[in-house]
Amino acid sequence: EPPKLVVPKAAVEPEEVDDGKKKVTIFFGTQTGTAEGFAKALAEEAKARYQQVKFKVLDLDDYAADDEEYEEKMKKETFALFFLATYGDGEPTDNAARFYKWFTEGKERGDWLKNLHYGVFGLGNRQYEHFNKIAKEVDDIVAEQGGNRLVPVGLGDDDQCIEDDFTAWRELLWPELDKLLRDEDDATVATPYTAAVLEYRVVYHDQVEESISENGYANGNAVYDAQHPCRANVAIKKELHTPASDRSCTHLEFDISGTGLAYETGDHVGVYCENLIETVEVAERLLSLPPQTYFSIHTDKEDGTPLGGSSLTPPFPPCTLRTALTRYADLLSAPKKSALMALAAYASDSNEAERLKHLASPAGKEDYADYVVANQRSILEIMAEFSSAKPPLGVFFAAVAPRLQPRFYSISSSPKIARNRIHVTCALVYEKTPTGRIHKGVCSTWMKNAVPSEESLDCSSAPIFVRTSNFRLPADPKVPIVMIGPGTGLAPFRGFLQERLALKESGAELGPAVLFFGCRNRQMDFIYEDELNNFVKAGVISELVLAFSREGSTKEYVQHKMSQKASDVWNMISEGGYVYVCGDAKGMARDVHRTLHTIVQEQGSMDSTKAEGFVKNLQMTGRYLRDVW
Ligand code: 2AM
Repeated sequence: EPPKLVVPKAAVEPEEVDDGKKKVTIFFGTQTGTAEGFAKALAEEAKARYQQVKFKVLDLDDYAADDEEYEEKMKKETFALFFLATYGDGEPTDNAARFYKWFTEGKERGDWLKNLHYGVFGLGNRQYEHFNKIAKEVDDIVAEQGGNRLVPVGLGDDDQCIEDDFTAWRELLWPELDKLLRDEDDATVATPYTAAVLEYRVVYHDQVEESISENGYANGNAVYDAQHPCRANVAIKKELHTPASDRSCTHLEFDISGTGLAYETGDHVGVYCENLIETVEVAERLLSLPPQTYFSIHTDKEDGTPLGGSSLTPPFPPCTLRTALTRYADLLSAPKKSALMALAAYASDSNEAERLKHLASPAGKEDYADYVVANQRSILEIMAEFSSAKPPLGVFFAAVAPRLQPRFYSISSSPKIARNRIHVTCALVYEKTPTGRIHKGVCSTWMKNAVPSEESLDCSSAPIFVRTSNFRLPADPKVPIVMIGPGTGLAPFRGFLQERLALKESGAELGPAVLFFGCRNRQMDFIYEDELNNFVKAGVISELVLAFSREGSTKEYVQHKMSQKASDVWNMISEGGYVYVCGDAKGMARDVHRTLHTIVQEQGSMDSTKAEGFVKNLQMTGRYLRDVW
C-alpha cells in the first residue's frame, strides 16, 4: 500500500444513531489497493443509485479491534459486500488476516448471519493454484452460517482483465440490490459506463518549503509498517551473476542499525523504490509541466475517512512534480480502463478520444486485451501515442497513474548473523516488450543501480518495512528439513542456513538439511556458490543437490532431482521433517508440488487420494510451507 497521508482520526468516533436508514457495509481486504479501489468505486455508484441508503467502506482491520468485536458488529449487519484479494500461497491480505482467521475458525456459530444479505467479489489470478481461495471460502462460510447470498461469488482474474470481471459482477448485483434497497424516490439510473473522471483538487505552492515529508519518512516510529516505513541506507551491493551471464541478480544489504526495525528469519521486506530519472523525464514532457512545480493534492469531500470516501488513489505529501513522479506514480504498468477513460476526457483530438473510449468500453474488450495487455503498453507509452491527451495534474495522479506500490522480497539473511542488516536477493527484470520498449523493472533496476555506503557517503536509501511470515524453521533444530529453492527462491534458505550456523556455533545439535537448488548454468548464475559450499563444510547443509537447466542437452530441474532422491526425501518426511518451497508459483512450485505428491504416493505405498490427504495434512500442520510468488 502506498504511504497514506496521516489524517488523525477523530478521538472519539461519533456514536451511530439509528435513523432508520438502511445501511450497507462494504469491506475490503487489499494489498496493492485494487480491492480498495473497487470497493470505493462501487460505493460511489451505489450512493447515486440509492439516495436513502447509507454506504460505508471499511478496511477489515479497522472494523474491529478483536474477535469479540467482529462478532458483535457483524451480527448487526444487514447488508455487506466483501472485496477480498487472495495472495501468495492462498493467503488473505495483511489487512484481512485477522478477520479471516476469526471467521474461518468459528464455523460452529449456527445460522447467526440469517439477517445478512451479502455478496463477495474476489481478486485473484487464475495462474495460481489457490485461485480466489479467500473469497470463495468466505462466501461459503457466510452462506453456511445463514447469510443470504445476493450474487454468486465474483472471481476476478488478474491474469485477464479484472476490471471487466468487476464490471460483470456489478451488473449482476444491481438488480438484486434494486429489489432490496430501491426507494420510490430514487431516480432510475442507468449504470453509466463512462465513469466520472476522478480528480484531485490541486494546490500550487509558490515557495518550496522544506517539509519533513518531502524528505520522506521520519524514522523513530514505535511500529513500522506499510504506512509508516523506515528509511534505511543501502550498505552493500554486489552482483551475484558472473560476467558470462546475460542477466543480473543483485545482493543488497539495508542498514537497519539504530532504527528499531527488527525482523525474523523467513520474513519479507517491503521496499518503496523510485522510478528511474529517464522515466520521470518522459512523464514530465508528456504532462508539459516543469519538474519544479510544487504542489499538493486534496480531496474535497471531507467525510471523516482519510480519502474522503471517494475512489481516488491516496494522496501524498506536498512535493515537487519530479518527486511525485519519482516516488508515487506507477508509470510503467498497463493503464487501467478507468485510466483510458480519464485520458479520453482530456484528449483534444476527437479521434484519439474516441479510440481511447473504445479501448475502455465493453465493445473494445478484445482490442484492450491485445493493444494494451498483450503488447505490454505502459501508461507512458499510451500517453505518448495519444499525445493530444494532456490530463491536468489532479486527474493524472487521481485517475491515470496508480500509486507506486512497495515490492516485497523474501529476506535472505538471519538476524542471528546479521541483526543490523536486511539482505535482499533480487533478479533484474529487464525485457523487450512486443512494441520494442525495454521494460526495466522499477525496483530491481533501482537496486541494481543503488549506491552503497561502502562506496559513497552519498549512498542510496529507501523506505522499507518488514512483513511477518509463517515461513519459519522448526522450533527444534534436530527436526530434518528439505528446502527447495531454485533461482532467487534460494533467498529465505540463505537466511535459514545462517540461522542454523548460528545455532550450531552456540552448541545446538542440528538435524539433517537437504537443499535443492537450481539455476541455468554453474558458470553463470550459481548465486552464493561459495557460501553454500561453506554451509556444507560447516555441517549446516547435510546435502546440497544441484540442478542445472541449461548445461546439458536436457533440462534438469529441482523436481527431477527430488524424484531421484525420492527415498531420502520420504525418509526425512517420515521422521517428522519439514518441507519448504520458495520461488515461482506458477511453474516451479506447482511442479514441485506434483513431484512431492508422487514421492509420497510411491514411497509411502498410498493411492493418489490417500497421498493427497497426506500432503494436505503436512500443509495443515505447518510442515509443508511455501513462500511463492
Ligand atoms: P530454465 O530457465 O532453464 O527453464 C531458476 O530460475 C531455475 O529454475 C532455472 O534453472 C530455470 O530453468 C528453472 N525453472 C524454470 N521453470 C521451472 C519449473 N517449472 N520447475 C522447476 N524449475 C524451473
